[in-house]
Amino acid sequence: MTKLKGALIGCGFFAINQMHAWKDVKGADIVAICDRDPERLKIVGDQFGIERRYSDAAALFTDGGFDFVDIATTVQSHRALVEMAAAHKVPAICQKPFAKTLSDAKAMVRTCENADIPLMVHENFRWQTPIQAVKAVLESGAIGEPFWGRFSFRSGFDVFSGQPYLAEGERFIIEDLGIHTLDIARFILGDVATLTARTKRVNPKIKGEDVATILLDHQNGATSIVDVSYATKLGMEPFPETLIEIDGTQGTIRLSQGYRLEVAGPNGMTVSDASPQLLSWASRPWHNIQESVLAIQQHWTDRLSSGGETSTSGADNLKTFALVEAAYESAADGRTVDIGAMLR
Ligand SMILES: NC(=O)c1ccc[n+]([C@@H]2O[C@H](COP(=O)([O-])OP(=O)(O)OC[C@H]3O[C@@H](n4cnc5c(N)ncnc54)[C@H](O)[C@@H]3O)[C@@H](O)[C@H]2O)c1
Repeated sequence: MTKLKGALIGCGFFAINQMHAWKDVKGADIVAICDRDPERLKIVGDQFGIERRYSDAAALFTDGGFDFVDIATTVQSHRALVEMAAAHKVPAICQKPFAKTLSDAKAMVRTCENADIPLMVHENFRWQTPIQAVKAVLESGAIGEPFWGRFSFRSGFDVFSGQPYLAEGERFIIEDLGIHTLDIARFILGDVATLTARTKRVNPKIKGEDVATILLDHQNGATSIVDVSYATKLGMEPFPETLIEIDGTQGTIRLSQGYRLEVAGPNGMTVSDASPQLLSWASRPWHNIQESVLAIQQHWTDRLSSGGETSTSGADNLKTFALVEAAYESAADGRTVDIGAMLR
């Protein structure tokens, strides 16, 4: 079988994980890279042995010779780069946050549909081993119909040293991290009808909010809470674990710190270890995220080879992105926001 050829744009902090994962993906290789910063281009090109290097994305697309593009830049450039991919009929992966606004995100999905190219958002958190394990338990019927959930990410980890831009934006935790937690809530309990949110900024050195509490009314009648914080100083730092509680008509699921998965049902209780693997290039505590990067990139490669929509396609991600926009709206004016109306 011939391997798919990919190009990666944006050789920054997180792209290192994506490049390592591409080495492990079966069926695809990265053949060209692009970054407007010559230093990053050299570091990543030398580390991964990529000879085709570009400082300008337009020149990369003009030269072509690849089957897909992996856009790993920050949000400001996403719309322009996705549109460039569509203009060249090149299937595209785009990092989260998908776009600056919901209307930009909708336009990007439309452009790719019109160009008839697959578009996937690199929304990797739902691909984490512990999250997939919770989903599998729920789908097995072991706890009956879920009626309540909590998706929690509370940490005091210093994310600003690796990603200094996170301290500078008007928006912080919902747009950067809550976007993943909201996607997990949708993945586990289904799409959302209405949302109510409250936010706070605790750390005086940053511009945006670092605490958010979000109440979701799911379309299936379940209620859930998404709570995220980078101002929570715990005795044992859980970064970057998402903790989950689900109550169902027949039992409960608890994913707790240390990847402990407890399932209680009519036949008693089981406890298992839902830890991610430590891949050869991974390092703790990031290994959970790093493994999910490999999983999502393998999923993309498989779908691009065999056809079919990806789990986190652009169209799917609009429903997560709408929750981000709605959370900021609700936190600003106190209202409960109708998600269906935003997506129409
Ligand atoms: N899914 C996750 O777990 C996860 C974790 C961290 C970061 N991210 C996301 O990854 C994205 C990148 O974050 P990062 O921390 O690596 O950022 P970064 O600033 O370290 O890297 C971005 C790189 O893109 C380059 N770039 C920007 N615009 C460009 C353009 N138009 N053409 C060519 N190069 C361009 C920059 O020079 C830089 O080297 C962000 O959107 C972030 O939210 C995701």
